[in-house]
Amino acid sequence: MRIISRHPRAMDISTLILGAGAAGLFCASRTGPGTVVVDHAARAGEKIRISGGGRCNFTNTGCAAENFLGRNPHFAKSALARYGPWDFVALVDRYGIAWHEKTLGQLFCDGKATQIIDMLRAEAAGADLWLRTEVAEVAHDGTRFVVRVVREGRNVTVRAANLVVATGGKSIPAMGATGLGYKIAEQFGLPVTDTRPALVPFTFSDERFKPLAGVAVPVRAHADGPAFEEALLFTHRGLSGPAMLQASSYWTEGAPVAADLLPGLDLRTALRQARVDSPRRNLTTVLAHHLPGRLVEYLAGQMDMAGNCAEWSDARIEALADALSAWVLRPTATEGYRTAEVTLGGVDTTALSSRTMEAKARPGLYFIGECVDVTGWLGGYNFQWAWASAHAAGSAIADSQDGSRRTS
Ligand code: FDA
Repeated sequence: MRIISRHPRAMDISTLILGAGAAGLFCASRTGPGTVVVDHAARAGEKIRISGGGRCNFTNTGCAAENFLGRNPHFAKSALARYGPWDFVALVDRYGIAWHEKTLGQLFCDGKATQIIDMLRAEAAGADLWLRTEVAEVAHDGTRFVVRVVREGRNVTVRAANLVVATGGKSIPAMGATGLGYKIAEQFGLPVTDTRPALVPFTFSDERFKPLAGVAVPVRAHADGPAFEEALLFTHRGLSGPAMLQASSYWTEGAPVAADLLPGLDLRTALRQARVDSPRRNLTTVLAHHLPGRLVEYLAGQMDMAGNCAEWSDARIEALADALSAWVLRPTATEGYRTAEVTLGGVDTTALSSRTMEAKARPGLYFIGECVDVTGWLGGYNFQWAWASAHAAGSAIADSQDGSRRTS
């Protein structure tokens, strides 16, 4: 991929891609000659670089439409069927990038995430990449998209047969997120569903979990959606960790979040047994065998845990087991777009072809990646959506170019 530093004032090209993130870069590897990728950031693929703790959880082997949220849960099926996790793994293997499965089908690089960026840039070598370039105006002149961009104070007008919008969502504005894709969609009359931060930590106004900051515990948690059996991490401001991030995607303000603090343990039987085996032991001491001591201490201040095991009736054991298997909390809010991994909602999929990502009412206009109302769970699903949707759009554009070359 060539980095262009000087541009002519006007140019005609085949395909202009807005956004050099995961989806934009991958799409550029498909669209063929005459592609320009524009991004206002100084570097391409910044979110890839920081993803997965710097090792990029680049896909999930179990990826299916069920792992996504959006108004139409079936929309992602077609693209995922034509470009699945193993297609991306084959590409990664071709570049000799070592990887491993961490857990739950999540594939990470053994080395740095920048290997994925380098691979994407090598794949898109035929396209021109314009970094530090602002998108000033997007229009359509009846024949082509006319996009005015600004670089180093110079206006450049790009006329393109195809416009691919891959500008991501609103998550982490400090990393260049702007929500431009939604504005372009609305400008061309496409509906955009409500957006909100997802895969984001919960906050509590009273900072009640401050004393527990840093404590992690495996839980089974849910908001208004499926339950996720992963880690919960207490933070100074509230709750994080994979289980809470997953639950946040299904949470709305004011609603509760519930966690089973001892998934897989039959606490009733364990406590009854402790009553027989160690009647003089404090119940909190017994619980500390199953939960971190600091958490037991905190919980003892919230619920009845007083006394030796011998003093515990079946009814008290029953009540405690119920309380710990459905620990219900009402977060005040989330950390918002400042730290959210993704944006829920986006360009309404009813307006797009699920096969090509092209706007049904505006030929040549494509939306891919996070700006579309398709949001994955934590665990490599969002990158897989970026690859699959980019492949769908990029291949459709390449096919249409082949077709027009054949007929001309
Ligand atoms: P992406 O955000 O990657 O790219 C959009 C591009 O558009 C950016 O380069 C941006 O600069 C550019 N842009 C935006 N507005 C513009 C404007 N007005 N003008 C010009 N350019 C503009 N997912 C996953 O599957 N596995 C993981 O390990 C992680 N880890 C992770 C960690 C963190 C901290 C975050 C924040 C996110 C993740 N994700 C993830 C989610 C994943 O990063 C995300 O879903 C994809 O990057 C989305 O790819 P897109 O290309 O759609 O947007």
